[in-house]
Amino acid sequence: MTAPAPDRIEELLNATKTAFIAGSLVRLKLGGYHGAEPDLKGIEIKKITVKGGDRFSFTYRYKTRDIIKNFIQPEALALLRTGLKDEFSMAQLATTGFDMVLERNGLKIRLKRTEVEGREAPSTEHNRAKNRPLNGSDKPWLKALGIAGKDGVVRSDAQDKFRQINKMVEIFAPLIQALKAEQPLIVDMGAGKGYLDFALYDYLSTVAKRPVGVVGVEMREQLVADGNATAQQSGFDGLSFQTGTILDFDATGADAVIALHACDTATDDAIFKGISAGAVLIAVAPCCHKQIRRQMEAGKPDAQLDFLLRHGTFLEKQAEMVTDGLRALLLELNGYRTKVFEFVSDAHTPKNNLIVAEKDDRVGRDREAILRQIAAIKALFGIEEHYLEGLLGARDAGPL
Ligand SMILES: C[S@@+](CC[C@H](N)C(=O)[O-])C[C@H]1O[C@@H](n2cnc3c(N)ncnc32)[C@H](O)[C@@H]1O
Repeated sequence: MTAPAPDRIEELLNATKTAFIAGSLVRLKLGGYHGAEPDLKGIEIKKITVKGGDRFSFTYRYKTRDIIKNFIQPEALALLRTGLKDEFSMAQLATTGFDMVLERNGLKIRLKRTEVEGREAPSTEHNRAKNRPLNGSDKPWLKALGIAGKDGVVRSDAQDKFRQINKMVEIFAPLIQALKAEQPLIVDMGAGKGYLDFALYDYLSTVAKRPVGVVGVEMREQLVADGNATAQQSGFDGLSFQTGTILDFDATGADAVIALHACDTATDDAIFKGISAGAVLIAVAPCCHKQIRRQMEAGKPDAQLDFLLRHGTFLEKQAEMVTDGLRALLLELNGYRTKVFEFVSDAHTPKNNLIVAEKDDRVGRDREAILRQIAAIKALFGIEEHYLEGLLGARDAGPL
């Protein structure tokens, strides 16, 4: 009686499982895909550690995007078994001690093992970093924005920026996902190079599978042209950029208006457009606060505040708080439940406040009380008019 032929696929799976448990798994790559999924090129598998424990993290590499899915061990091994039998003709396993390459040609399967020395497993920290909303591999927009190099990998000197982008996605994506519209329209005012727009669009449409439309409004023509070219190259049909000023942009139909570090009163323009369009969500991270600072300097703040306002640094901080505090009140006056909070550590940027306003009919009913409060604050700080108040007032006064 002859011994049964060794099952090469099981051999590879056992080696993968052992390396996963022992912490010696570097990666497993599946290639030679001939299954039914259009545009799937291959899968790269790593071990990651999440709150619930260790997982196999599968990065499905498509022609223009990546999708990451994490699986517990039995699920992952079952998927690998099916994949290797029916859909992939090649697998490359890398561990700290050896490599294995499996090649399948019809029923013929070859498995080759090579010993290696001096290779380290990726650290847990490394794996945690990879467990971000967006992974950094092979995205045309990351290359175009200079965050990834020609090889598609995030450059070592752009790791900080990439971390910040992921942080933005962590903050903004749940706000957008909470919107009721089937395909919400998000307008980003003062979009610049569009970091936030590309990241949000990529995450929402390809990872979270939430259809969205994103429009970035930017007055610098070249940035708009570059942004549109990159969106097209990325296959991001629902993302576009438009040249123009925030005030000139027709935001009708916007479900969310966002603005990240739009300069000084450009933040007010964005809030004004959001309110006027009846956007359900307005989220802005203000930048400088010159308009109110100048008014506090030129006006007559209450003398009791002199012990603070005569110091430039405190004046700056007060101007920031008063500007954004009044913005929050003006939003409430217009029926938005509003919160202001720090959204990133001030080690990244001192401009780290985020104003998040959500439409709520129960807010702003006592208009007189809010108006009295605004008037009292203005008198205290010697402010003649908040720029946003002027925009809203002119709108409400109607054409002359
Ligand atoms: C500090 S950058 C921030 C860019 C982007 N939001 C980000 O966080 O990466 C501000 C951008 O807003 C644009 N901007 C400022 N005021 C604007 C206005 N009134 N209308 C349109 N764009 C404006 C500027 O050209 C600039 O690109």
